[in-house]
Amino acid sequence: MMPNVSRTQQLCLIGICWLSGIASCMLFLQYFTPKCSTYLIPPHKPEIKSVNISNSIPKPETPSKEETKEETKEEKPILLLWVWPENYRFDFSDCKKFYNIDGCHFTDDRKLYNQADAVLIFHKAIRWDLSNLPPSPRPAFQRWIWFHVESPTNTHKIPGLENLFNLTLSYRRDADISVKYWLTVNKTPNTDFVIPKKDKLVCWFVSNNDPSTGVNTRMKYFNELKKYINVNIFGRMAGSHLKSEDYYPTLASCKFYLSFENSVHRDYITEKVNGPLSVGTVPVVLGPPRQNYEDFFPPNSFIHIDDFPNPQALANRLLQLDKDDEAYRRFFDWKKHVTATPHLVIQNQEFIIYICHACEYIGRHKEYKVAHDIYQWWFS
Ligand SMILES: *[C@@H]1O[C@H](CO)[C@@H](O)[C@H](O)[C@H]1NC(C)=O
Ligand SMILES: *[C@@H]1O[C@H](CO)[C@@H](O)[C@H](O)[C@H]1NC(C)=O
Repeated sequence: MMPNVSRTQQLCLIGICWLSGIASCMLFLQYFTPKCSTYLIPPHKPEIKSVNISNSIPKPETPSKEETKEETKEEKPILLLWVWPENYRFDFSDCKKFYNIDGCHFTDDRKLYNQADAVLIFHKAIRWDLSNLPPSPRPAFQRWIWFHVESPTNTHKIPGLENLFNLTLSYRRDADISVKYWLTVNKTPNTDFVIPKKDKLVCWFVSNNDPSTGVNTRMKYFNELKKYINVNIFGRMAGSHLKSEDYYPTLASCKFYLSFENSVHRDYITEKVNGPLSVGTVPVVLGPPRQNYEDFFPPNSFIHIDDFPNPQALANRLLQLDKDDEAYRRFFDWKKHVTATPHLVIQNQEFIIYICHACEYIGRHKEYKVAHDIYQWWFS
């Protein structure tokens, strides 16, 4: 028996033990969760709340943990998905499964419109006459989210949308909800990486060669490049179709991959870079300037076409690297300290990451906000 321990001290001890329990749990999760699933994207920055110890000591009158959980469940904000992007449906539980996101009550049931805290509206699905927008007036507390994943080149400037929205959701870093395939930093150096077996030098998966989507720049570059080096093409442009289960194995079998964006815009850097980085292939990028890429990726993890005066010089460098294993290996030095996580590749999964992050955002943010003149922002 402990002598002379007052009731308060006992409570204090219980409180401290309880907190250290939580702390070890959190440490455990932080270290072990990311390895559980290949598809887990980087866990979100943990929200660090300051804890007032005297408030944390369990008091008899506070409800049990189960009850508290139930209560917060009911308080989750409702996110209404107005239309399914491209009609690619998925199960809402995927947000929990892939991204550990569970911060909202997700629905596509328009009957919940009047209760919905936020409505997610996919730009490409909006009709020119705006006839398929949610009804007006909207509930005063409701926020509308402008959801757009294409670049400005591929954005229809539908009139009348300028001042309807409260939040923006896109790949742009200055969007309210900015969604990217972030690399994550390793706490302990990772020395496990082995370059996969390569039997191709340069590869390109490409389906879209419709000039109206802005692909002229990359087609011009490619047509010049292919005069000097063999490029293995997969996808519709090659008259074939790459199955989703073949995406990563095929990518891994190439030394270099042409990560050519369809149009050139700030921050418009897509999964075309994340894919090769995550499997151990060097991306050759065409898109915004190198500096913009270096905002997201280590400088020596990729080759930028601007590093060379012309496609021929790039081809020569790639041919030279093909014979220099030591120099090629150095493109993966970053993997010791940084991790690229494979993204979802099944077509129906294309928008999951965006929608889940909208859910996470509205679960955490209650601020009043208005997105003034979205086009001026978007096209500037
Ligand atoms: C912690 O909570 C107690 C009881 O609610 C309060 O009296 C005290 O001022 C709080 N301390 C801090 C630092 O917030
Ligand atoms: C949302 O934005 C609209 C205009 O874009 C504004 O009228 C409304 O007050 C905003 N509502 C909230 C809840 O932020």
